[in-house]
Amino acid sequence: MSTQATITKNGPIKIEGDFKVLDASGAAFTNAEGKPVYLCRCGLSSNKPFCDGSHSKQGFQSEVKAV
Ligand code: FES
Repeated sequence: MSTQATITKNGPIKIEGDFKVLDASGAAFTNAEGKPVYLCRCGLSSNKPFCDGSHSKQGFQSEVKAV
């Protein structure tokens, strides 16, 4: 499967497919192989770079459309 990033409505960025998430030094975060990850884009997560659901509790709103 190719890698796909989906900007969800009012929520995180969903990444699925074959990928790694690296920190600034190049170290990889571990994630369950074959499972999607959700990257925070609201800035409110206590588990950055991953979404912890805080966006919905805080009413984050952002819907983007590809043009
Ligand atoms: S997008 Fe979910 S906590 Fe930020």
